[in-house]
Amino acid sequence: MKKWKQKAIVQKIISYLPFSKNINYFFQKYVTKGENLNDEYFLDRLGHAKEHLTCYQKYTGNPFPNSSLEIGTGWYPVVPISLFLVGSDTIYSVDISMLTSKERIATTLRKFLDCHNAGKLKDFINYKKERFEVLQSILSNLEKYDLEAILKVLKITYIIEDARKLSLPENAIDLVNSNNTFEHIYPEILIPILKEFKRVVKKQNGVMSHFIDMSDHFAHLDKTINIYNFLQFTDNQWKWIDNSIQPQSRIRIYDYKKIYKDLNIPISELTFRKGNIHELKTIKLSATYRNQSMDEVAISHCHFISNMSEN
Ligand SMILES: C[S@@+](CC[C@H](N)C(=O)[O-])C[C@H]1O[C@@H](n2cnc3c(N)ncnc32)[C@H](O)[C@@H]1O
Repeated sequence: MKKWKQKAIVQKIISYLPFSKNINYFFQKYVTKGENLNDEYFLDRLGHAKEHLTCYQKYTGNPFPNSSLEIGTGWYPVVPISLFLVGSDTIYSVDISMLTSKERIATTLRKFLDCHNAGKLKDFINYKKERFEVLQSILSNLEKYDLEAILKVLKITYIIEDARKLSLPENAIDLVNSNNTFEHIYPEILIPILKEFKRVVKKQNGVMSHFIDMSDHFAHLDKTINIYNFLQFTDNQWKWIDNSIQPQSRIRIYDYKKIYKDLNIPISELTFRKGNIHELKTIKLSATYRNQSMDEVAISHCHFISNMSEN
């Protein structure tokens, strides 16, 4: 049986178990090895931090956001730590479950240290010397800190709640961002989340920046299928294949554009990777995608930037 099918079956079973998120972490870390903090993952998310900051600076003229909010940070908070290093004072991370730990944060901090020692960190972020010294001090005195103390020093607050109803006041956040998260949230949940983001982000000098990876994530593990493999299934078939611990909504760039338009959220910039139309053509598309522009269906990654002052 193909690897992606084995993974789909195991994740489906795990999704019905208690503590499914923790079990999935160990499955991904030790079996599929998809969730180790390797250099590729670290540099990719550091690249996202750079892009978020570049667009924030471009639209506000400020060097960094004082306050930020990320949804679905995941196990390794690369973007929140980047924001701490550049000078942000209030860094929120919202998720329905607590996915990080002292060990995972220490692993992330060591990656920052290695990147700095290799002379590469400055190519991504303009970090403050005194903030970097804080990071070094945490690593040198790790035994003195628990998770709560590390987060406090890094000015990061984890909000464990559904982002459809945030316990934050309106007009409070300079930068709302996400990384490889929207593709895991079905539109009926994403739409109320975006409404909430619109409420909490600052109306003047507020920016939203969201990276979306629309490729079939099973293809990251199984090189015998391409990134469009999941588009062959009908919505009903996909319901059986998909799982609640790492769902994939399969919606395409035109769906996101419509959601933004309907919610009256400005799209100030939209960049994307074209994908591979030849690979797409090897898939017998389900009716949901067949009548759309093939160039748009093929787009595999996109980045939506909103300058909220435009509204
Ligand atoms: C695949 S993970 C994100 C991956 C991560 N950003 C990265 O860069 O690797 C998607 C996250 O979104 C979170 N999420 C989904 N729906 C949510 C909601 N309604 N409110 C808050 N978090 C949500 C999930 O719990 C999950 O941790």
